[in-house]
Amino acid sequence: MDYYVMTLFPEMIDTCLSTSITGRAAKKGILGFHTVNIRDYATNKHGHVDDYPYGGGAGMVIQAEPIHLACEDIKKNIGNSPRVIYLTPQGRVFDQNMAKELAKEEELILLCGHYEGIDERIIEMDVTDCISIGDYVLTGGELAALVVIDAVSRMVPGVLSNSESGMNESFEDNLLEYPQYTRPVEYQGLRVPDILLSGHHANVTEWRRKQSLLRTAQYRPDLLEKVKLTKKDMDYLKDFLCN
Ligand code: ADE
Repeated sequence: MDYYVMTLFPEMIDTCLSTSITGRAAKKGILGFHTVNIRDYATNKHGHVDDYPYGGGAGMVIQAEPIHLACEDIKKNIGNSPRVIYLTPQGRVFDQNMAKELAKEEELILLCGHYEGIDERIIEMDVTDCISIGDYVLTGGELAALVVIDAVSRMVPGVLSNSESGMNESFEDNLLEYPQYTRPVEYQGLRVPDILLSGHHANVTEWRRKQSLLRTAQYRPDLLEKVKLTKKDMDYLKDFLCN
């Protein structure tokens, strides 16, 4: 899977993606990261890519032309017209299902804005998806692009090793993940729950399901509405709600 990131700050993207799991996948050739500096497509001799907003107001707006030229160049070079994702607080809020869906693409183009945003005509002409990573405003789209790339990449086959890619993780089945422990059995007076040391797999599975349900009820009750609850699940939750 190849990502093309249009940005004014390519070093932010390159530095992050070349480390850890994404860096390893790039070395193996499973993922390709290509940053494209929007400034390289400036059409004036000063290299300016932004201008004052029509109608007045604070801040500067990135002009349509350099972004459009950069986007056309990427599409021409790869001989394809992939989805173009603009990172913006006005987009659809990103979640695990979107990560899984995007992981099926062979190429993605991501567009990072800065200042007060980009000329709206780019959204009409070139952008296929607007994505927000949450209800807060960042100084630019780079961190949001990195979040999306990271979450999508770990869904691409071969990026995670077998031991890294367990299915029991948060948001599978709309439940948060259960608590995890490793050695030692006791640390600073705090013990690992006995059931995890029992070797009784069915009991461990049941305990983990209960913990996932309780955590979700406590921290993300909104998610519970989407969970298919069994009779036993309801009993666990009833105990929790009554206490
Ligand atoms: N750019 C600025 N804030 C953002 C957000 N919350 N999500 C995506 N892109 C952004």
